[in-house]
Amino acid sequence: MRVLSALAVLAVATPAAADMISSEGLQPYEVCGLCHGLDGVSAMAKFPKLAGQKAGYIEKQLHDFRAGRRLNDGGQMQAIVTELSPEDIPVVAAWFESQSPPPVAVGEGAAEEGAAVFKARGCADCHSAAPAPGGLLAPHLSAQHPRYLAKQLTDFRDGARENDPDGVMRTVAATLSDADIAALAAYLAATPRAPG
Ligand code: HEC
Ligand code: HEC
Repeated sequence: MRVLSALAVLAVATPAAADMISSEGLQPYEVCGLCHGLDGVSAMAKFPKLAGQKAGYIEKQLHDFRAGRRLNDGGQMQAIVTELSPEDIPVVAAWFESQSPPPVAVGEGAAEEGAAVFKARGCADCHSAAPAPGGLLAPHLSAQHPRYLAKQLTDFRDGARENDPDGVMRTVAATLSDADIAALAAYLAATPRAPG
């Protein structure tokens, strides 16, 4: 009941007014539901699916938005993180990690080519079930909105997103064509996300 009424309040707020949402009496992750879905399965590709995402990666992104290290969000996350206290960060990260993995998005394009590019470019060295080398916090890419994935790769390539440690993603993305990016996004979106 509590969650439903919180969402009803959020539903009337526009994203631009996110900083004016009163979060009194709510769990810190309830305010995230407006854009990301309370269960971490967002409806719009603009908002990444957070369900089953690694908590450590979510925490790093929240710290990066807070510190102004990640700036490719159109200002929405930068506004919302000002509402989070440092103690809320692990709470919201654990909430979204513990949600059931999101459904896959199939039939969005050249998934087979994408699988080949993913293999040829060594993406799985970091983005697989095994931990990434050097303690890198590499996120799950599977079952993500294809347009969100394509935007991130383009943002890394153009330097609009530059919060990747040692430029690992900017280096990888610099060599990708638009066709590679579209194929990778289609493949990853159609791949089921392993829980945990
Ligand atoms: C007003 C809409 C809005 C709200 C509310 C919102 N977000 Fe976001 N969030 C975004 C947008 C937009 C992006 C970035 C899209 C991009 O990079 O293109 C984003 C990105 C993120 C990312 C990065 C995910 C990734 O895969 O890199 C995390 C983590 C995140 N949000 C967590 C949260 C949490 C936790 C809350 C609640 C405290 C929250 N968001 C509330 C709009 C929102
Ligand atoms: C050397 C390790 C490494 C390799 C290889 C690598 N990545 Fe990444 N990737 C990362 C890390 C680390 C991040 C998180 C950066 C940050 O902290 O914001 C990331 C982030 C991403 C994101 C952003 C996801 C989101 O939720 O916002 C995408 C998309 C991505 N990688 C795709 C790829 C693809 C496709 C390949 C192969 C072409 C690849 N990566 C190769 C380490 C790697």
